[in-house]
Amino acid sequence: MTTATERTSESPPLLAVRDLTTTFPARRRGSAPVRAVDGISFDVAEGETLGLVGESGCGKSTTGRTIVRLLEPTTGSVSYDGRDISRLSQRALRPLRRELQMVFQDPHSSLNPRQTVARIISDPLLVQGSSATDARKRALELMELVGLIPEHSDRYPHEFSGGQAQRVGIARALATGPRLVVADEPVSALDVSVQAQIVNLMERLQRELGLAYLFIAHDLSVVKRVCDRVAVMYLGRIVEIGAKERVYAAPAHPYTRALLSAVPLPDPAAERARERITLLGDPPSPAAPPPGCTFHPRCHKAQDICRTEAPVLRIGTPGEAREVACHFPEEAP
Ligand SMILES: Nc1ncnc2c1ncn2[C@@H]1O[C@H](COP(=O)(O)OP(=O)(O)OP(=O)(O)O)[C@@H](O)[C@H]1O
Ligand code: SF4
Ligand SMILES: [Mg+2]
Repeated sequence: MTTATERTSESPPLLAVRDLTTTFPARRRGSAPVRAVDGISFDVAEGETLGLVGESGCGKSTTGRTIVRLLEPTTGSVSYDGRDISRLSQRALRPLRRELQMVFQDPHSSLNPRQTVARIISDPLLVQGSSATDARKRALELMELVGLIPEHSDRYPHEFSGGQAQRVGIARALATGPRLVVADEPVSALDVSVQAQIVNLMERLQRELGLAYLFIAHDLSVVKRVCDRVAVMYLGRIVEIGAKERVYAAPAHPYTRALLSAVPLPDPAAERARERITLLGDPPSPAAPPPGCTFHPRCHKAQDICRTEAPVLRIGTPGEAREVACHFPEEAP
């Protein structure tokens, strides 16, 4: 296996998503299909964390599920380590499943209630052909790695708290030694105090194991803490993507500005001075997106061109590690 330090600048990114579209069939006869993911492109480099944020229903989970092939892409490609995996049969995909794993939002509902945690964590190894003895031994090591007591290995998920159950979910994801973990709202269902523990755990595992994360969340404070870069989604599209420092300090897209303006600031003076931008109404349905810039009905900066011409994602300021899809982006300070 190539390590991060051995990789050259010509190496393909660990994950390369290109023009990915995932469409669900129309809900009712006569209604349009739902374009949940509508032509998105991004990379995740080895060992980095890309945060994926946006309001409920913007397509974050569909993106994550399509990447790990829990959902089939409609068009576009997903390349892992230079190889397009978006059309591989489930059989051909099996060896790659070792490297590409997912952690889910609700730990309890994503764990089989009738299996012991040792069995749950062993399962991916058994599927990959490990013996029952080896898989169990590895499951106990993984329990220790994620801060669980190996003596609890024969307990069932309902005997664990939400935070402990999420540790089981993380241990299961790590069982096969993945390089990329898609974490879909991994802390959203947990108490705030427990959220910090799970975030700490994920950061430690990243350092120790060199993991890359696609970290999906609607909580921008959590994403700010964990990610290197951030992608902002609106109605199935990426409207802004770039280095976390740039996007958080100087959001260029009006939607990103509105999302960030809702995040409380720890410094009381800054909090008092915080400009709040209220988003009007709910996002439109992805089955009937508005023409032009799909954000225009809610955008205070919308002009005529916004109603007819969709802005493409492009570098805002030359040389800047950030792209934005807006006809009138905020000037970078
Ligand atoms: N299996 C499905 N069949 C039909 N439509 C779906 C399906 N799954 C999701 N959708 C629709 O696709 C769109 C994107 O949903 P998705 O779950 O990806 O959003 P999300 O950003 O993860 O939202 P949340 O923050 O609430 O988790 C929504 O309009 C949703 O209703
Ligand atoms: S393109 Fe126009 S409507 Fe869309 S975000 Fe930019 S200013 Fe607003
Ligand atoms: Mg979701």
